[in-house]
Amino acid sequence: MPKSRVAEHAINPLFVSRWSPRAFSGEAIDDGTLFQFFEAARWAPSAYNSQPWRFIYAKNNSKHWADFLALLSEFNQSWAKSASALVIVLSKTTFVPPGKTEPIRTGSHTFDAGAAWGSFALQAAHDGWFTHAIGGYDKTKAREVLGIPEDYVLEAAIAIGKQGDRSILPEGLREREVASTRLPVGQLVAEGTFNFTE
Ligand SMILES: Cc1cc2nc3c(=O)[nH]c(=O)nc-3n(C[C@H](O)[C@H](O)[C@H](O)COP(=O)(O)O)c2cc1C
Repeated sequence: MPKSRVAEHAINPLFVSRWSPRAFSGEAIDDGTLFQFFEAARWAPSAYNSQPWRFIYAKNNSKHWADFLALLSEFNQSWAKSASALVIVLSKTTFVPPGKTEPIRTGSHTFDAGAAWGSFALQAAHDGWFTHAIGGYDKTKAREVLGIPEDYVLEAAIAIGKQGDRSILPEGLREREVASTRLPVGQLVAEGTFNFTE
C-alpha cells in the first residue's frame, strides 16, 4: 500500500487495503463469489433490524449487462465497462415495526444501506476483489428500467472486479489510478462538543 494509506492507529489492514480502482480486468465472477459479498452485506446492523438494503445485479456479458451499463454517466461507463458485475443498491423507506400492522418510515434506511455496502466492499477486499461505488448514474431511468417501486430509494451503484492494468483506462484516468488518502483522525473526532475548526 502507498504511504497515503497508512493508518494512524492499529487497525485491521483490510480497512486500508480496500480502495476503489477504475481499471478492472473484465474477468467473470461466479455466483458463489458474488453472493459472499451479499452475504456479508446482509449482516450489517439496521434500525429495528429492518434490513432495508436491497441489491439488483447484472454480470458482465449477461442479458442485463447492457441495460445496467447504459444507466451510468458517460464518464463512469468509460471505465466500468470492464467490471465483472454492477450492483444497484436500494433502500426501502418503510417497514412494519414488531407488533404493529402499519408501515412507518425509519429515517435511517440510507444510513443502514450504507453500512451494508461497507460490509460488501470489505468482504470483496478480503477475497481479493475490488469494488467502486458510483453515484453518477441515471436514477430516474434506473427506476423505470429495473421496475423499482416508489418506496425504495436508489442509493449508489457498485462496480465489482479484479484489478486490471491501468493502461486499459482512457487517457486522463491512468494518472488518477492511485489510492486516496484520508483526513487526519483529529480533524474528524471531537470529545464532548462540536469543537471542530472546519
Ligand atoms: C456514494 C459514492 C458515490 C461515488 N460516485 C463515484 C462516481 O460516480 N464515479 C467515480 O469514479 N467514483 C465514485 N465514487 C468513488 C469515490 O470517489 C471513492 O470511494 C473515494 O474517492 C475514496 O477513495 P477509495 O474508495 O479508493 O478509498 C463514489 C463513492 C461513493 C461512496
